[in-house]
Amino acid sequence: MEPSVFRERRDELGRRLGPGGAGVFFTAREARRNGDVDHEFRGSSDLVYLTGFEEPEAVAVVRPDSPDQRFTLFVRPRDPAQETWTGERAGVEGARAHFGADAAFPVADLEKELPACLANARRLVYAVGRDDEADRAVFRALAALRGKARAGIRPPTEIHDPEPILHEMRLRKRPEEVAALRRAAAVTAEAHAAAMREARPGMHEYDVQALLELRFRRAGSPRNGYPSIVGSGPNATTLHYTANRRRLEPGDLLLIDAGAEWDFYTADVTRTFPVGGRFTRPQRAVYEVVLGAQERAIAECRAGVPFDRVHETALRALVEGMVRIGLLSGEPEAIVKDESYKKYYMHRTSHWLGLDVHDVGAYRPEGAWRPLEPGMVLTVEPGIYVRPGTEGAPPEFEGIGVRIEDDVLVTGDGPEVLTAAAPKRIEEIERLTAGGVTSA
Ligand code: GLY
Ligand code: MN
Ligand code: MN
Repeated sequence: MEPSVFRERRDELGRRLGPGGAGVFFTAREARRNGDVDHEFRGSSDLVYLTGFEEPEAVAVVRPDSPDQRFTLFVRPRDPAQETWTGERAGVEGARAHFGADAAFPVADLEKELPACLANARRLVYAVGRDDEADRAVFRALAALRGKARAGIRPPTEIHDPEPILHEMRLRKRPEEVAALRRAAAVTAEAHAAAMREARPGMHEYDVQALLELRFRRAGSPRNGYPSIVGSGPNATTLHYTANRRRLEPGDLLLIDAGAEWDFYTADVTRTFPVGGRFTRPQRAVYEVVLGAQERAIAECRAGVPFDRVHETALRALVEGMVRIGLLSGEPEAIVKDESYKKYYMHRTSHWLGLDVHDVGAYRPEGAWRPLEPGMVLTVEPGIYVRPGTEGAPPEFEGIGVRIEDDVLVTGDGPEVLTAAAPKRIEEIERLTAGGVTSA
């Protein structure tokens, strides 16, 4: 994205903070995997949102109403010896030249320089309690400023969590964000369709993961928004199954929950399909209930509708359907009330989507569920999971797990399903999976 995008976001943050506003944002910490190998690094979303800066160890300070130092970046300095090992760095010069920083310092100078960056600010946005080392750096800067009272210098008098200020901005997607989400959705949908075509009994879950993620990479997505869940047979009933090691068997359902990132924005899509064949009768019965519930819930993603109604609608449809097919017995209303459905549907239906897969933004900012607004993006992802050995589960349904998940943009004209290109109707899916094969 253009540097102007990030400048506009910092300006908007300044307008929301008012005079004397300031913000300090630390990127994510690098994490050790084993030995001297690190986990793949991905910057923290708040910092990336405001700066576009992707390198580890970065700290951004914004003072939107400062005359000459509105944006300061602390970065790893250029270091030819280190860069030989881990790649090129923007360095202090690059932070100014390419990221629009008015001032830039080596991150080793943070303790020395941070107090001046925050001097005489009134309202500070900083996520207290997320990282001990970051807390210590900020608190030391505040203490240093407190020591200068007699020179007429004071620390900020208010510290605000990012949620009511910055995360309100991130919750309502601007056009360039919607464009990135559309690309992430398109790449993801195409890869899910490919997985339906190519998965066959005898492959392993990680084979299917590899062919799906190959599609992501080939289409230009550098990484996933979260670890891919590729669960076959009974593994489809484990909500966040990521081991992905089982061999696919004839007659299995395969649940894939995977999303590509595009410009740091992620899709979040789940499809469930029969491996190289057709749905069996009980699989089809469960699938139709979940699909019907999802379609009814998506129709509720309209401006003005409270967030929770999407879940309530899906839940009601799931419970009615589970009674209809014999998974549950009793009055749907009573089942919703006593929560006995939870043995088959134990998660909620939706979350915000954006830079984070479970994106930021308060769901009940004033206590009541927030009404949806144009520009908000949420998932709709009902499921039914009949874990083997579940008490009272009819045997023909045991081991069946189905989730169907799409990403929905709320517009002035109703819901727009960004991931509609990923097949989910039974006939469409079987056209891709079956190749004329029939299951029992
Ligand atoms: N992929 C995680 C979720 O669906 O919430
Ligand atoms: Mn999700
Ligand atoms: Mn998901």
